[in-house]
Amino acid sequence: MIGVFDSGFGGLTILRAFLKALPDIRYVYLGDNARTPYGNKSQGVIYEYTRQAVEYLFGLGCVLVILACNTASTKALRKIQQEWLPRRYPDRRVLGVVIPLAEAGAAVTRAGRVGVIGTRATIESGVFDQELHKIRPELMVFGKACPLLVPLVEEDWVRRPETSMILKKYLRSLKDKRVDTLIPGCTHYPFLQPQIERIMGKSCAVVNGPEVVARKLCDYLKRHPEIDGAIKRGGNNSYFTTDDPERFMAFGRQFLCDRISEVKAVVLG
Ligand code: DGL
Repeated sequence: MIGVFDSGFGGLTILRAFLKALPDIRYVYLGDNARTPYGNKSQGVIYEYTRQAVEYLFGLGCVLVILACNTASTKALRKIQQEWLPRRYPDRRVLGVVIPLAEAGAAVTRAGRVGVIGTRATIESGVFDQELHKIRPELMVFGKACPLLVPLVEEDWVRRPETSMILKKYLRSLKDKRVDTLIPGCTHYPFLQPQIERIMGKSCAVVNGPEVVARKLCDYLKRHPEIDGAIKRGGNNSYFTTDDPERFMAFGRQFLCDRISEVKAVVLG
């Protein structure tokens, strides 16, 4: 099984792409909806919440966990990979989403002006800038924290005019910087992809995060047959949330093509 972790519903955008690209794999999704948003929390808290979630997914038998959440990927992944995994679970793997997104952004930009939007924690971490500059040191990177977007998506306000207004306000400064590529550095933003593309206009390519991450997972499994071989295939996917399972089921059913027959409530910690 592959575990997909997010602070809330956002990671369903990534899971949807996985289900399309690698439908035979069995997935376990865990959304920490009770403690979302992570994006305004400190590094220590984000690390601890993420570690608890990964441990829970390992306990269910996941060999590989994808931190779909950019905030967890920027604030917790390195410590998990470098300190915690080698000590506690040397044969399991945890991967994030930042490097695939940065590679996609760096590959697309012509003018070398790349915008990144994300939670406050993600933008302030500077991890996207670092990864983009590792690939192409000459790039101009402009980050913009958009802290109101995650709660709007979690509240299912995606199609409300208020959300478009807020998005326009956030994206204004990146348009002024004439970015020709935009990386939506948060799992919740693909829910707003059409609005983002409309606001940024034709002169700006908006990276499709879920597709990019799914492609990267396919590559990873090809390059790591030992992990690929240990992953269970077939059977139903499972869904876990730290908040109301009914609400999760309603949101998930509306968005995923997977038949979600049950969502279980869990307590992490
Ligand atoms: N899903 C998280 C991400 O990709 C953000 C949500 C949150 O702030 O909890 O960054």
